[in-house]
Amino acid sequence: MRVIEAEDYQELSNIAADFFINKVKENPEITLGLATGGTPKGTYRKMVEDHDKHGTSYRSVTTFNLDEYVGLDSDHPNSYYQFMETHLFNEIDLPFRQKHLPNGVAKDIYKECIEYERTIEQCGGIDVQLLGLGSNGHIGFNEPGTAFETMTHVVELTQSTRQANARFFNQLDEVPQRAITMGISTIMQSKEIVLLVSGESKQHALQQLLTRQSDEGFPASVLTKHPHVTIIADRKALSGIPVNG
Ligand code: PGA
Repeated sequence: MRVIEAEDYQELSNIAADFFINKVKENPEITLGLATGGTPKGTYRKMVEDHDKHGTSYRSVTTFNLDEYVGLDSDHPNSYYQFMETHLFNEIDLPFRQKHLPNGVAKDIYKECIEYERTIEQCGGIDVQLLGLGSNGHIGFNEPGTAFETMTHVVELTQSTRQANARFFNQLDEVPQRAITMGISTIMQSKEIVLLVSGESKQHALQQLLTRQSDEGFPASVLTKHPHVTIIADRKALSGIPVNG
């Protein structure tokens, strides 16, 4: 895993945005895996700024998001669909039919998982997957203990993840209990992975990732087995951690 150290969140966002913008320029038909959460917001902001200023086009890009809450439809203000609309999709020229998120209100959410996998496959797989890091080591909504072989599936969210996400809702009990998430195997099948880690609150998780053996108790540790991972982390997240290369 390659680690790029950024001075602060702003620089992390600039580096990550430049990385994705260059990927899109190199291959306008690229398939991107996208993430929600606080960390990628700055990256999306810079991508939008670049789209406005320099006209980088997403007309032929396809995207797949990592996850969606079960029970929130695409109009719900806290759905990940709306998050993506607000922070990226409404601001760039990505065609409607080329953006994908799991449907959290599908009649049969288990079938939805199978179909999501099939759609990714039909698009030729994900070229570059963007990830955030949960403080408990989750990636997507793959919580500690998730088997590394899992494909897109329905998960019960842990209390700690629901609490972490409650900041986006009026109160904790509004945070859905379940989500549909790409599985660890789905993520690992991406050709390339970029993990963003920012702030002191992630320092412990990042240290675990960089120092411990791969095991299912810490989902992100699977990334050590992927041949093409770039971690972009800011100084606060990296404090006290020696970085090589
Ligand atoms: P965050 O979430 O970007 O809001 O910190 C990351 C994650 O939990 O995957």
